[in-house]
Amino acid sequence: MARILTGIQSSGKPHLGNILGAINPSINLSGKKGNESLFFIADLHSLINIKDPHLLQENTFSVASAWLAMGFDFKNNFFYRQSKITEVCELTWYLNCFTPFPMLSNSHSFKDKSENLSEINSGLFTYPVLMASDILLYDAEIVPVGKDQKQHLEITRDIAKSFNHQYGDTFIIPKSKIDKNVMTVKGIDGKKMSKTYNNTIDIFADEKLLKKQVMSIVTDSKGLDDKKDPSNCNIFNLFRLIATKKESDEMREKYTSGGYGYGHAKKDLLCLIMDNFENERKVYFEYMQNKDYLKSILETGENKAREIATNVLDRVKIKLGF
Ligand code: ADP
Ligand code: TRP
Repeated sequence: MARILTGIQSSGKPHLGNILGAINPSINLSGKKGNESLFFIADLHSLINIKDPHLLQENTFSVASAWLAMGFDFKNNFFYRQSKITEVCELTWYLNCFTPFPMLSNSHSFKDKSENLSEINSGLFTYPVLMASDILLYDAEIVPVGKDQKQHLEITRDIAKSFNHQYGDTFIIPKSKIDKNVMTVKGIDGKKMSKTYNNTIDIFADEKLLKKQVMSIVTDSKGLDDKKDPSNCNIFNLFRLIATKKESDEMREKYTSGGYGYGHAKKDLLCLIMDNFENERKVYFEYMQNKDYLKSILETGENKAREIATNVLDRVKIKLGF
């Protein structure tokens, strides 16, 4: 039995890349027998960038609805908002006092982001310490994350080891799970799909916006009658990620035979998205229309999560002499 934990920031509506690259693999892992999962919405981390309270709340609900729509079994696991278990802020302070300053100033993520942002606040600097608290506060053993989070997990392990070295065994040393097979989904322009590049396919957007996104997928300028190379086409590359093998083979055949234009391919991709995600979209919109119900699910998860958090925090405070 392993305790799995992961978080997603509430930075916007989850897109196809977030779903195929983060949400679905974590849900698959949580479904394995004997695993116990803690999945949360990292809304405190989002405050680093989002200063509009309404937007922060809407994004939090949107991320929560996406996890539920994709089938996370919240009843048999833990599902919560990071900000509701304030013990995490207390632990962050303690851990700050065990985190060497250069470990944070040398972090890749801080260096990259601080070069590109106009406002660099201290939250961005201490981001990895809050993330370490997220993990250590719940005695997590396995943390599924994308490649970009690898260093944050190393920082978490270093902080925990340094604490344990000084005070005796207190924290479980977590392991990251970076699945090499998890795909990097490309966006409508062929670059990595990301909210930052504004190149997303938002499967939970209304149909009009979704259609606009699919119709703006960038292609080469081959005409209707030309034979086309599917493996170099952004439409086909997205299609095959969600289609069955048979559906992909059929589309590949149309590309290579000619007489099948990019407009047709885009329409087929849109239909496939609408069909494949029909139920998930329905569930997502139901949760978004029924925030009281959504909140009650989160509150139940928060009460369960808080129990673990207070126990671990007590353990830490006794060690520290508080
Ligand atoms: P974004 O780049 O849109 O801001 P985030 O950084 O919030 O996305 O990512 C949330 C999670 O989704 C992370 O675990 C990240 O690894 C995963 N993810 C984001 N974009 C992609 C992508 N294009 N393909 C696969 N996984 C992705
Ligand atoms: N930093 C992660 C991201 O941007 C989100 C996150 C916050 C997280 N706390 C975490 C992920 C704890 C795993 C464990 O994707």
